[in-house]
Amino acid sequence: MNKVKLTIDKQTIEVEEDSTVLDAAKEVGIDIPTLCYHPDLSLHGACRVCVVEDEESGNLLASCATPVRDGMEINTRSMKARKARRRNVELLLANHPNDCLGCDRNNHCELQDITYNLGIKSEEVAKFAGAKRELELDTTGPALKRDPNKCILCGRCVRICEEVQGVSALQFTERGFDSIVTTAFDLPQAEINCANCGQCATVCPVGAITEINEIDKVWAALEDDDRHVIVQTAPSIQAT
Ligand code: FES
Repeated sequence: MNKVKLTIDKQTIEVEEDSTVLDAAKEVGIDIPTLCYHPDLSLHGACRVCVVEDEESGNLLASCATPVRDGMEINTRSMKARKARRRNVELLLANHPNDCLGCDRNNHCELQDITYNLGIKSEEVAKFAGAKRELELDTTGPALKRDPNKCILCGRCVRICEEVQGVSALQFTERGFDSIVTTAFDLPQAEINCANCGQCATVCPVGAITEINEIDKVWAALEDDDRHVIVQTAPSIQAT
């Protein structure tokens, strides 16, 4: 395959012509944060967390979805790229439940890691205060539960279900603020044609799809009054 020569953060490299800017950056050990990108799945280019600056045009490019070009000069750390990356993560957080401590993915969440790495503080997110999604959790499935309020619309679950499993049990629906990932006909998890393979939970970068655990089973078996007492005394348990 032909090679393409480009510069990333002043390092000149040669990579195969079908590489993306993200691939090229990885080759020289430059770490660019990503959320919707997954190496085993088709490109989606939706989250814009991986933006870098094209030094020639000054344009911001989604590095995961931009093919390399001969003579390209990329800056992954310019002020413009870092500001945009930060702003995109802040916007994701503005519409995300603020309950990390009660989330199954606490300390194993890619959004949380990126937030810490970028040093984003809650005050910076608060400036985007607005409507929040208040959608029902789906805990009807035998093995998986879905919390659409935590979904960041990266589409990894949709793509793995379709491209790897060949099932297509999940899909995008609605538009704009109302966009969500849900099941076919928005049916409960228990009623869909899902193999419960768990691949969607594995690739979900946040806590939107997780495996049902022992705490969920105990919670489901409790009477409403008992749940109320627990919620009053330990609010974070509610989120499990
Ligand atoms: Fe590149 Fe989401 S990781 S746009």
